[in-house]
Amino acid sequence: MAEKKARKVIVLMGSPRKKGNSAILAQQIVRGAEGAGAKVETVYLHGMKIAPCKSCYACQKRNSKGCAIKDDMQTLYKKLLKSDCWVIASPVYWFTMSAQVKLFLDRCFALPAYAKDPFAGKRVAIAMTYGDADPFASGCVNALRTFQDIFRFVGMKIVGMVYGRALKAGEIENDRALLQQAEDLGRRLGSG
Ligand SMILES: Cc1cc2nc3c(=O)[nH]c(=O)nc-3n(C[C@H](O)[C@H](O)[C@H](O)COP(=O)(O)O)c2cc1C
Repeated sequence: MAEKKARKVIVLMGSPRKKGNSAILAQQIVRGAEGAGAKVETVYLHGMKIAPCKSCYACQKRNSKGCAIKDDMQTLYKKLLKSDCWVIASPVYWFTMSAQVKLFLDRCFALPAYAKDPFAGKRVAIAMTYGDADPFASGCVNALRTFQDIFRFVGMKIVGMVYGRALKAGEIENDRALLQQAEDLGRRLGSG
């Protein structure tokens, strides 16, 4: 029998804290996905040169050669096209996703200039953490709703979303149930 091809997962870390709470949740997703046989690559959006979209619409023109901004998104576009699944990890900043994640998503507007139907059939998992009491008070729900709208619009399937409360870096480790939930999500992402 032909061997099933390993799913390619790209993890997009959206916090400046490399060992922060959203990164820990994302690493649990990675553990699950790798356990299911997926190949995982992690990129840290913070520290990459990703300029804001300048709304020039060069990417939307017929026979476009892609995004007019020549920065680190150019290498990221290639990785995104090769991937089967995305993991987006973000802290809640001011009642929504971090600016690093928003910049990245705005620049994904140009992805269709590089390949036909670049989003279709891809799968995505979301990991978010926040300092306030719950997903509503923290504003986490605003980001989750935005992700739902974005991924419905582009035709990517959200496999699951994990989120929880933690303020100081690493505090999320105390939430064992959530870590398990994240690992289970990774397994589904990597295998389903
Ligand atoms: C600039 C900034 C804005 C924040 N805004 C919020 C917020 O609106 N709601 C909230 O619950 N927590 C807020 N927080 C707390 C973080 O969401 C929380 O510490 C989170 O666990 C950080 O995740 P990380 O460790 O992955 O960076 C904010 C933190 C920073 C630095």
